[in-house]
Amino acid sequence: MDKFKHPAEPFRIKAVEPIALLPREKREEVLRAAKYNVFKIKAQDIYIDLLTDSGTGAMSNQQWAALMMGDESYAGARSFYRFESIVRDITGKKHIIPTHQGRVAENVLFSSILKKGDYIPNNTHFDTTRANVSHKGGIPIDFPCPEASSDEELPFKGNMDTLRLRRFIEEKGADRIPAVFMTVTNNSMGGQPVSMSNIRETAALCKENGILFFFDCARYAENCYFIKQYEPGYQNKSIKEIALELFSYADGALMSAKKDGLANMGGFAAVNDDDLARRIIELLIIIEGFPTYGGMSGRDIDAVAVGLQEALNEDYLEYRIGQVAYFGRILERAGAPIIKPSGGHAIFIDAARFLPHIPNRHFPGQALTVELYREGGIRAVEIGSLMFGGYDPNTGEEIHAARELVRLAVPRRVYTASHLDYVAEIVGRIGNRKDQIGGFKITRQATYLRHFTVELDEIAPKGISVK
Ligand code: F0G
Repeated sequence: MDKFKHPAEPFRIKAVEPIALLPREKREEVLRAAKYNVFKIKAQDIYIDLLTDSGTGAMSNQQWAALMMGDESYAGARSFYRFESIVRDITGKKHIIPTHQGRVAENVLFSSILKKGDYIPNNTHFDTTRANVSHKGGIPIDFPCPEASSDEELPFKGNMDTLRLRRFIEEKGADRIPAVFMTVTNNSMGGQPVSMSNIRETAALCKENGILFFFDCARYAENCYFIKQYEPGYQNKSIKEIALELFSYADGALMSAKKDGLANMGGFAAVNDDDLARRIIELLIIIEGFPTYGGMSGRDIDAVAVGLQEALNEDYLEYRIGQVAYFGRILERAGAPIIKPSGGHAIFIDAARFLPHIPNRHFPGQALTVELYREGGIRAVEIGSLMFGGYDPNTGEEIHAARELVRLAVPRRVYTASHLDYVAEIVGRIGNRKDQIGGFKITRQATYLRHFTVELDEIAPKGISVK
């Protein structure tokens, strides 16, 4: 296929939602009022929203129809049993515990398995997993593979560094590590996939040491599609077969169904162990709801059940992964240094390379994020020192993230190639006037997940005054 094309959508559009670009002066005003934090901008003021692929997808006619079938009974709703059977069919796990989104599954699991000072290794924690581990007194730790930070175009840069994980287990002792996590795809590392062989190896290491092995499987279907494309031995397997094998290596999984559940809300924890399930459910009832609805309405549960099946469809995945890859190619053509190969759900621009004159402490990723809105009404998200940096609680020293990225996440089944072409054009325009772009300083911040509420002030680049 032509390099600048992607597989046509395997659907047609039945309902549309109008969007519009505000005039430039209004966009400036919006930025100032939001204290340069794009999480504080009203959706009505955004033209193209690439903040996240989470809960922002378009549902299918089948999912909208399933909403009508929702059973809103408090206990034992039909919706739950449909959902349970589908999740069990995909994950092979015994206990399927619904939650209204992924982070609640994290909360109930970590509350049930963590003692203060315990470690939770992960190929790379997403920010909510990291925060949930810390919040329960645990220590989150990342072991991304060495290739993750290289510029080489390798197929499975989301992998776990099993060598370092093995050494870590030997050093700390398995009794201080209640579980090892594997995030598929690896969101914080560019949405890169994890290979089945790396999963197998990590699972074996956990088994050898009596440590639970869990997936954070928000984008597992996309990960399975990459395995099918790039890992020898999987070309002739269906995505469902690959998924079943993947889950077979784990003791459990946590899912935010707002991604590969193709739903606007939902999640679950799936575990095999009876005692662990019982502990999770006890807490779930206190903070989330009865275990046959877990914070969701019956209709939402049905939408997730249908969405989970649709996300395994190969035509859909070919289009989905193809569209994101196309987005990467046009952004690169527009002059943006991107993480390669392109991941499953988003393109990550390396802002430190795009805006090399802005030091880490002035958040080059945030500078690019603000420019995207200023120039084109586009919302993206910084995944760099604003999200992952902060201050060392012991030394008070400033901590920077390993990379200064800006994530342009692509909502599922929502935007067309023309929308993405527009974004690439805006990135090109920003690139043409980079020297006029300054950094940021924080004026207000919270202890956990500071990027959601942070307030910032613009720092003018040398010789230029900020508007
Ligand atoms: N795990 C991963 C890998 C995620 O990407 C997310 C959410 C979660 C867990 C938490 O799920 O939002 O349903 O509570 N990621 C979104 C994102 C927010 O934008 O990447 P949640």
